[in-house]
Amino acid sequence: MTFAIKYGPWALVAGASDGVGAAFAAGLAERGVNVVLLARRQAVLDQVAAEIESRTSAQTRTLAVDLAAPDAASVVAAATSDLEIGFLVYCAGADPNYEPFLDNPIGAAEAIVHRNCMVPMQLCHHFAPAMVERGSGGIVIFGSGAGLAGAANMVAYGASKAFDMVFAEALWAELHDKGVDVLGLILGKTNTPALRQLEYSRGQISSPDAAPDGAASVDEVIAEAFENLGNGPTYMAGDMMRAAEQMLSALTRNQTVELFAQAAAASMGPDR
Ligand SMILES: NC(=O)c1ccc[n+]([C@@H]2O[C@H](COP(=O)([O-])OP(=O)(O)OC[C@H]3O[C@@H](n4cnc5c(N)ncnc54)[C@H](OP(=O)(O)O)[C@@H]3O)[C@@H](O)[C@H]2O)c1
Repeated sequence: MTFAIKYGPWALVAGASDGVGAAFAAGLAERGVNVVLLARRQAVLDQVAAEIESRTSAQTRTLAVDLAAPDAASVVAAATSDLEIGFLVYCAGADPNYEPFLDNPIGAAEAIVHRNCMVPMQLCHHFAPAMVERGSGGIVIFGSGAGLAGAANMVAYGASKAFDMVFAEALWAELHDKGVDVLGLILGKTNTPALRQLEYSRGQISSPDAAPDGAASVDEVIAEAFENLGNGPTYMAGDMMRAAEQMLSALTRNQTVELFAQAAAASMGPDR
């Protein structure tokens, strides 16, 4: 079965306007799958769509949706009801703030949990039945090293990423023998526009275009993702993430939390 037969004819990429999501969408299009590109910024989505259509024969559709909105999943379902979606990528989800839990209204944490937990769960429940019926398809949910243990300034974010990882593992357990590849793709520090913006705002890099120290490249992460779509339930992307997983395996949870606290203190920018 070719890639496009197994995972097409359409894919939905949530968080496709830049970084790893845009690169994932381009990789799908290069493999013959049409892509629905979803993010908040319509103008940037239009640029990603134009770039994909100029380089591949895949079709695109753009959807400007805020995934933190209460009705996001039903808006997405309605806007794709005429398409056969064989692949779902849920990439949107970094926390642009990195601030203490009590420094923001509870709505900020609720928005993270809605975008990172409720909506991917709702979209999987909406799109997976057709994949199961067809006996083929794929689902990739982006996780984070921040989901491996709790750490300050990542209270709701880290917890949402723990949910994503366990959710993907459990969904894999139910779907992989029905022909649907499910992968929790766990990223460590990765050189995306969102990470650069965060590090720049914290005084850790000198310009928003500078590469953050020790970050994996988008190309490296996406190449590994495509190579490991069938190697779920969980895949640690990048050498640093795999080394971290190995190191943490020797520690108790409390030791891991202590280590995360030390790492966070060591990475504080000069302004914090
Ligand atoms: N970069 C890292 O170092 C790193 C490390 C560990 C894990 N990860 C994970 O990798 C994934 C991608 O991270 P990233 O660094 O590229 O940052 P990101 O902020 O998740 O941005 C990725 C995409 O998501 C979209 N997005 C963000 N919030 C959205 C919302 N409310 N509604 C719709 N679209 C939204 C962004 O576009 P718009 O702004 O146009 O909406 C962008 O296209 C995330 O799940 C993150 O948890 C990243």
